[in-house]
Amino acid sequence: MLDFLGSLERTHMCGELRAAHAGQQVVLMGWVNRRRDHGNLIFLDLRDRSGIAQVVLDAELTPEGHAKGEMVRPEYVVAAVGKVRLRDKDAINPKMETGEIEIETTELRVLNDTKLAPFSPAEDAIQNEEVRLKYRYVDLRRAEMQRNFWLRHEITHAVRESLSGQGFLEIETPILTKSTPEGARDFLVPSRVHPGEFYALPQSPQIFKQILMISGFDRYFQIARCFRDEDQRADRQLEFTQIDLEMSFPRREHVFGVVEKFCAAAWAAAGVTLPTPFPRITYDDSMRQFGTDKPDMRLPGLTDVRPAFTDENLAALQIDPALPVVALRIPNVGELSRKEREDNHPLFDLKKGAKFIDDFKRLAKGFPESVEKIRELTGAAEGDFVIVVAGDPTHHIKASDTKFEGRLSEREINVYAAAGNFRTELAKKYADRHGAFKVTDEIVANADPKSGMKLDGAKAFHPVWIVDFPMFEFDLPSGKWVPAHHPFTAPYEADMANLVSDPASVRADCYDLAMNGLELGSGSIRIHRKDVQQQIFASLGISEEEAKNRFGFFLDALEYGTPPHGGIALGLDRIVMLLTGAPSLREVITFPKTAKAIDLMADAPTTVTEQQLRELHIRVALKS
Ligand code: AMO
Repeated sequence: MLDFLGSLERTHMCGELRAAHAGQQVVLMGWVNRRRDHGNLIFLDLRDRSGIAQVVLDAELTPEGHAKGEMVRPEYVVAAVGKVRLRDKDAINPKMETGEIEIETTELRVLNDTKLAPFSPAEDAIQNEEVRLKYRYVDLRRAEMQRNFWLRHEITHAVRESLSGQGFLEIETPILTKSTPEGARDFLVPSRVHPGEFYALPQSPQIFKQILMISGFDRYFQIARCFRDEDQRADRQLEFTQIDLEMSFPRREHVFGVVEKFCAAAWAAAGVTLPTPFPRITYDDSMRQFGTDKPDMRLPGLTDVRPAFTDENLAALQIDPALPVVALRIPNVGELSRKEREDNHPLFDLKKGAKFIDDFKRLAKGFPESVEKIRELTGAAEGDFVIVVAGDPTHHIKASDTKFEGRLSEREINVYAAAGNFRTELAKKYADRHGAFKVTDEIVANADPKSGMKLDGAKAFHPVWIVDFPMFEFDLPSGKWVPAHHPFTAPYEADMANLVSDPASVRADCYDLAMNGLELGSGSIRIHRKDVQQQIFASLGISEEEAKNRFGFFLDALEYGTPPHGGIALGLDRIVMLLTGAPSLREVITFPKTAKAIDLMADAPTTVTEQQLRELHIRVALKS
């Protein structure tokens, strides 16, 4: 039999009780986390958002409460009325925050029972993610999930406060709108009122925030929900949240300053000091040093080992002398057997036209001086794992050799990228051995919802701004130059003359923020003149008609006194993922979609009724 709540009111949260509360009369309400039956004494661990308190049901003191205690099971919802008392010395539990006290219960009310869930939220790790997502309401009760969302709240709050303090207005933009230009597939919403017409959900508030600058708001921000119909990954969801901002008359440095300030506040909310300003690196240098535009700077970068080889050596080893020869070093891996090395080979991206050497014993037989020099250049110590990556002259891939003074060609980028991918894949694989990614465990171990995370952030988090991106990338399948960013990104004024004649040379005034191998944010100074915008569309092969169709309203707006402006958006989910040390965004989004784009709890997407389809003027043509 269940009890009514009656006039009972909660007086305290479970987790807040300490020795100083001893003697106080309290009413606690929550879930039974665990139950231990010692005959005349039954112990309930009562759990709410704040933590756990031990409730004692003594058959002598409260026969009725004790009888109910025999009946309750984990996850029943109960109210305990009683007095806080100090535990006996030998019963003190130093691992529990409330471990010095317990509740001497005089009355227990059973407010609700529960069906048996497929797992208990009292357990730390639950293997089956599908079951967790289906019973998400139970999963979210787990201490780890409560902590993730507590932290998410603190971070969001800190960002809002920081941006508001920096003169930004929080302004909302439409969800039912027109296609936006982030390059993913749109989610479409059919219009009932306009047969055959569709709204698109925003991939980002990009166009609207630019229009808000035209409208004179000067500094805008929004914690904005974005929708992109793209393949899911650990760091990608169909719907996600951006910290989105735009400002008028900024230089790149102003945007950086604003972001560094709110990031410092967000990290501080998690108990981490993030030193500012963040370092900067050009795209080309990032490719040269890390083989990626989102470098993980917790690991050693790539080393140019071209000087370790004579031209004859390169020819003998079938290495393309015109392309980079780099070494990657993963520290403290230890000696690897041939089999272990071979197991790594599938991690290498062969499509890039690059090859690698990982057998140094063999290399040393033919080229002992090269090996010695590589050791010297990379600073490799005993137990470090070193691999050389170079251009493969026998592997012909379609790529541009166009080289602008001081810049990297597509072919060169390919070799660096192959090395960069290999570097991060191997680092992930050997994380246990070399410890570079142990950061995650450390954060989890240090997490404490009330006191914040006590972690030296300077050691754990390595933010870096990537600047001077190329405006265009060479798309191998189509053989065309395609925009590397959305088409409102301004080119450097100095490079404008080369837009059509030499697209590879044009730099974009855009920037990314990367941290620990993750792209956290991306933004740019925008095009604010219609003539330049049209030129960019033309150079991207977007016809005037297409541009008018897709962004006509925006092109019109550009003609009504547009100030120079720029901004950025950071992935809020990704920030929370980093700060919680979670392995995937699904741990920091309340009701996420699976890799197959399904909401297992709500069972979405689903079919709809014929009536609904009729109203929307839609007929489903299913190929069965
Ligand atoms: P961009 O498309 O680079 O830029 O997105 C900015 C940041 O949003 C996050 N992000 C995602 N997070 C989770 N799941 C996804 N599917 C996903 N896609 C992006 C990333 C990324 O760095 N309008 C521009 C910004 C601007 O120019 O101001 C934009 O949306 O952290």
